[in-house]
Amino acid sequence: MHPTLLSLVALLAACVGVHAQTLVNGQIFTNGLAIVDAPAPNSPMHAGSVTQVAIDISGDGHLDQSASIPGSDKSTRFDSLEIYLVSYQTRLNLTVSSGPDLLTREQGSTVKHLDYNVSTCIPAGSYNLTFYEASHIDDQAFFSITAYPLTVMNDHPTDACTNGTNTLQDFPQLSSAPPQSPWLDGTSIATQPLPTATGNGAATLTSVSSGFGLAASYALGLGLLPILL
Ligand SMILES: *[C@@H]1O[C@H](CO)[C@@H](O)[C@H](O)[C@H]1NC(C)=O
Ligand SMILES: *[C@@H]1O[C@H](CO)[C@@H](O)[C@H](O)[C@H]1NC(C)=O
Ligand SMILES: *[C@@H]1O[C@H](CO)[C@@H](O)[C@H](O)[C@H]1NC(C)=O
Ligand SMILES: *[C@@H]1O[C@H](CO)[C@@H](O)[C@H](O)[C@H]1NC(C)=O
Repeated sequence: MHPTLLSLVALLAACVGVHAQTLVNGQIFTNGLAIVDAPAPNSPMHAGSVTQVAIDISGDGHLDQSASIPGSDKSTRFDSLEIYLVSYQTRLNLTVSSGPDLLTREQGSTVKHLDYNVSTCIPAGSYNLTFYEASHIDDQAFFSITAYPLTVMNDHPTDACTNGTNTLQDFPQLSSAPPQSPWLDGTSIATQPLPTATGNGAATLTSVSSGFGLAASYALGLGLLPILL
């Protein structure tokens, strides 16, 4: 595919894929590479207790272990994965995991586990567990944001949190995500190389349409595709 078209598709995907996530058999498929096993959406977090976070970084077995370590040379790979507990209700943005810690721990394991101490400083209310993923899919860069709701229960809140607090940024935040998880496609775009630019336009479009169909339809609708191909 023409590089310009790839950028266009990524740009259009940014318009349609913000904050999307899909629940399949209890797993949360982010619209990046990560698949979240726990905690379940809408589950309670109890202040003063630990909430276990578990994330499959293997695309349910499709992705080589080395692709999850930042700096990997794989065409489909994680660059970074950070998690924050965010609420526009209580106006808090708390670090659950930042930096390369999550992706580099438990090497050899396809699931990364994190015990998050829900501090008693966190006021009760509605929160989003929010995943920020920078990744490459077939060498195309993406930044996806996945947020899903959780409730914090706290009968005895202590003083305002001072540790792990971050500036709360305005909603919505910019992202450039694939239209959906690449692992949910009939033909996984991440495990099969994209067709080369030498194929004719129609064939190229058909073979990537399972992953980028929505964005490609937008491009078609705008009449841009014939020009770029
Ligand atoms: C959680 O995120 C959604 C968008 O994904 C947003 O509409 C909602 O306000 C957020 N909830 C809280 C409590 O911040
Ligand atoms: C959580 O809190 C417990 C008790 O205060 C402490 O032992 C443990 O190291 C903490 N875990 C993390 C991940 O901070
Ligand atoms: C501060 O928060 C970070 C990130 O949540 C955590 O790793 C660290 O253990 C906390 N430190 C203290 C003293 O609670
Ligand atoms: C929360 O803070 C982190 C670290 O500064 C930032 O990357 C993220 O965009 C913030 N999210 C929101 C919703 O403010």
